[in-house]
Amino acid sequence: MSGTILVTGGAGNVGSHACKALAAAGYRPVVYDSLIHGREQAVQWGPLERGDIADSKRLDEVFERHRPTAVMHFAAFIAVGESVSDPGKYYRNNFAGALALVEAAVAHGVDRFVFSSTAATYGLPQTVPIIEDEPKTPINPYGWSKLMVEQMLFDFERSHGLKSAIMRYFNAAGASPDGEIGECHEPETHLIPLALDAAAGKGPPLTVFGDDYPTPDGTCIRDYIHVGDLADAHVRALGYLEKDGPTRAFNLGTGSGVSVREILDAIERVTGRAVPHSFGPRREGDPPVLVSDPSRAKIELKWSPAMSDIDTIVGSAWAWHRASVDA
Ligand code: UFG
Repeated sequence: MSGTILVTGGAGNVGSHACKALAAAGYRPVVYDSLIHGREQAVQWGPLERGDIADSKRLDEVFERHRPTAVMHFAAFIAVGESVSDPGKYYRNNFAGALALVEAAVAHGVDRFVFSSTAATYGLPQTVPIIEDEPKTPINPYGWSKLMVEQMLFDFERSHGLKSAIMRYFNAAGASPDGEIGECHEPETHLIPLALDAAAGKGPPLTVFGDDYPTPDGTCIRDYIHVGDLADAHVRALGYLEKDGPTRAFNLGTGSGVSVREILDAIERVTGRAVPHSFGPRREGDPPVLVSDPSRAKIELKWSPAMSDIDTIVGSAWAWHRASVDA
């Protein structure tokens, strides 16, 4: 496998893992990132081109200079709560920015596109585990901004022959086992990093959002998937498109649910430290259970999560957390 891949958001969490996996598979990842949230230190496997996805002129220069054969698009804002208070920011960046990028790709003859989407496109699913054909009614602007890009990609296939792999992540978590890259959001809102901060005494006690859900232990259930497994799926998706696979959406999760309480238990088991916590009210917009049916990715991409059991996820996140806190 060879060729240059333009990786937007390649200085971010999942994007940087994808660059690492692309380089290991023989591709040349060129990172395109505004560095608003991305970190320059995470760009280790190819050049960095600084730019905004909405900047068509800058995109033209970069497509011209590197002549990528495909685009992997990770650059996006991801804070669900913020998308509710400031929807314009999400539609502008996640949707209008993606439109500028897709148009640039088409204008420069690129016909393969891998898109970082989300389980938030499903909203409150009627059936769990969730299959890709589940009705999609997002419950926040973040989910809508991603679903609108998905729709646009199907339309661009019909009109321009652009083939896309739409990757719907469940809960991305964990850090690279060799400690090279890990999760670092500012501000942090995700459960595992916040719980590790609390366990390490570096952050306040965790507030568990709700213990009265209709789940066995009353806390929300999610499908946690290691970023390394997500990265592997992206490389496989590229292979799928290289074999002329049509535009297709894929769920990326393990198919198994883990509750918030079970995450706290795993942290105690793996780190030897209890997570100081209290129980608070439910967080608005949190579905009780989000678990994928990943059969399509398993069959069509021949993908299977290899490091997504919860102790491996927590262990890698803890090693990264300690290294970055001590640094
Ligand atoms: N949680 C807490 N306390 C916290 C943070 C989280 O109890 O301080 C709980 C949440 O209520 C949820 C679980 O931990 O039940 C996981 O929460 P995260 O914030 O880590 O992740 P989400 O499930 O909310 O979000 C993920 C992705 C989003 C995506 C969403 C799809 O991070 O990008 O799934 O619904 F939109």
